[in-house]
Amino acid sequence: MAIHILAIESSCDETSAAVLSDGKVFSNYIANQTVHEQYGGVVPELASRAHQENIVPVVDMALRKAGVDRSELSAIAFTQSPGLIGSLLVGNCFAKAMALALNIPLIAVHHMQAHVLANFIEDPKPEFPFLCLTVSGGHTQIVLCESPLSMKVIGETLDDAAGEAFDKSAKLLGLPYPGGPLIDKYAQQGDATRFKFPEPQIPGLNFSFSGLKTAILYFLQEKQQSDPGFVQQNMADICASVQERIVSILMNKVVKAAKETGIKHIAIAGGVSANSGLRKALQAYSERHGWQYYIPKFEYCTDNAAMIAMTAWYKYQAGEFAGLDAVPSARAAF
Ligand code: KG4
Ligand code: ZN
Repeated sequence: MAIHILAIESSCDETSAAVLSDGKVFSNYIANQTVHEQYGGVVPELASRAHQENIVPVVDMALRKAGVDRSELSAIAFTQSPGLIGSLLVGNCFAKAMALALNIPLIAVHHMQAHVLANFIEDPKPEFPFLCLTVSGGHTQIVLCESPLSMKVIGETLDDAAGEAFDKSAKLLGLPYPGGPLIDKYAQQGDATRFKFPEPQIPGLNFSFSGLKTAILYFLQEKQQSDPGFVQQNMADICASVQERIVSILMNKVVKAAKETGIKHIAIAGGVSANSGLRKALQAYSERHGWQYYIPKFEYCTDNAAMIAMTAWYKYQAGEFAGLDAVPSARAAF
């Protein structure tokens, strides 16, 4: 009999449900919350309320698209941490109630581990051991992966995440939230060599992005003083130059991590792995350094339940189930 897993992701501002059958994803439904745009960032209380409204229809759509009836489900998975506590609670309570009603096991999934395992949804799957650069709105990590459920963070950001660096730079340029995809869009028409932003000198495999944000702020203040139309007239070149610097900060640490560990299989994951500059850079660096590289399909880069389902599939096979007393946590290491 096939194993069917329903997975729910609700850690931030996307309500998502996915159905996986015997290790293959058959549906991945995502409801984006547009209510936050007008506030320039995610408002936690509004996010929880939107999750409450979305969760029933989103789960229904995922089951229907996969052609799986709830009575056929073998387990329910949910994102346990990290994330906004109110948002996590909606997915957690829904998953527990459904697992209890159907009398099937519950699987608690770590969101960052799931971003890494998004690389296993489709072929080619990474070979172990591999390094994963996980770059999202809340995290920037270099993860050493020895097996699907054995991972170690060997480098991380000391302040802003890469996604925040994109979003905060976009905000300084007057672009709406989330600005990362817009910087990417403008950058594609721009000259990345036009403006030079500083690269922080952080020892080891850790990252820092707060200095870059300050450098961009001062740069824009100075330019706008003499020419108020500066940003509008140079948007593409500024975006290309900012993106170039964020990408080089990330890739230089990946090169260092690959040298230190001797690992030549490199993956990327998380919302920022949707960035076209980072994707191109990974390809170019891989050719130069003889790496095998892996990039998840676009829809599996940003927050989605398919990656939660994939992680749950490995946990199901390992017999790693959660009790009905499982609670979410805003911060937790894996
Ligand atoms: O993984 P994710 O969907 O949510 C978190 O877990 O944080 O990542 C969201 C982040 C946001 O900061 C967003 O601006 C960024 O990913 N992002 C991008 C792109 N698409 C999403 N940043 C740069 N270029 C993109 N194309
Ligand atoms: Zn995420």
